[in-house]
Amino acid sequence: MTTVAATGPPSSTLTARSLTKQFGARTALSSVSFELSVGELVAVIGPNGAGKTTLLSILAGVQRATSGEVTLAPERIGWVPQQPALYSKLSVAENLRLFARLEKLADTESAVERMLTQTDLEQRAGEEVGRLSGGNQQRLNIAIGLLSEPAALLLDEPSSSLDPRQRERLWTFVGGLAGRGTTVVFSTHNVAEAERYADRVIVLADGELLFIGTPPELEGTVGGDPRDFETAFVRFLHSRGH
Ligand SMILES: Nc1ncnc2c1ncn2[C@@H]1O[C@H](COP(=O)(O)OP(=O)(O)OP(=O)(O)O)[C@@H](O)[C@H]1O
Ligand SMILES: [Mg+2]
Repeated sequence: MTTVAATGPPSSTLTARSLTKQFGARTALSSVSFELSVGELVAVIGPNGAGKTTLLSILAGVQRATSGEVTLAPERIGWVPQQPALYSKLSVAENLRLFARLEKLADTESAVERMLTQTDLEQRAGEEVGRLSGGNQQRLNIAIGLLSEPAALLLDEPSSSLDPRQRERLWTFVGGLAGRGTTVVFSTHNVAEAERYADRVIVLADGELLFIGTPPELEGTVGGDPRDFETAFVRFLHSRGH
């Protein structure tokens, strides 16, 4: 995979061109292309094994595509994996400091302070990460993804382990980031959440991008009067042979 300078309209932050990923004979991603705008909030939805994690991790630069390119350099992209890579014996602040050093940030301490404030973790700064609630661990996971003040933040199923109140907090926080100009891409199996919070959705199935557009546009592609977005989504997949 090559990383090239951004082209296209100035509002575009991240473009994927013909991303393909092979695992041996298995095609996990098949020529996936799209262009995302500054401050856009985009959901990636699709069945298990569709290629959502593969796509996000390739965009983040933690995995290489077999072919294709991403226009935003990995240093400008924040990555929030589904399984947090946290050091459970270290404190919240120590984890942030460690990752800030790994990312070679100029001013480690101010980055740590900034992230503690931004993610509302100041009161937890000295607490051992292994003792945090799932919601606070997720917040730290996101704080690490945001340390380098990336132009785009990618989150793999960020809400899957959260209770409804923590989920609400997550989406308020993520919506605020997008509102301030960060492009946010998240995957989810909760399609109602995708409909509610995303400007556009990307539908992947068996490695193919089947749709990119707004939730109402997706509903518009299926006939009849679907009860809700989830029904429309299932009908859409069915109509495309999935
Ligand atoms: N490291 C790997 N080696 C071999 N095959 C892999 C590897 N990672 C993913 N795959 C395969 O690639 C395909 C896409 O997997 P991926 O994890 O991206 O799907 P997903 O949409 O994130 O699924 P889920 O909803 O279950 O998280 C699957 O067929 C999976 O088995
Ligand atoms: Mg996945």
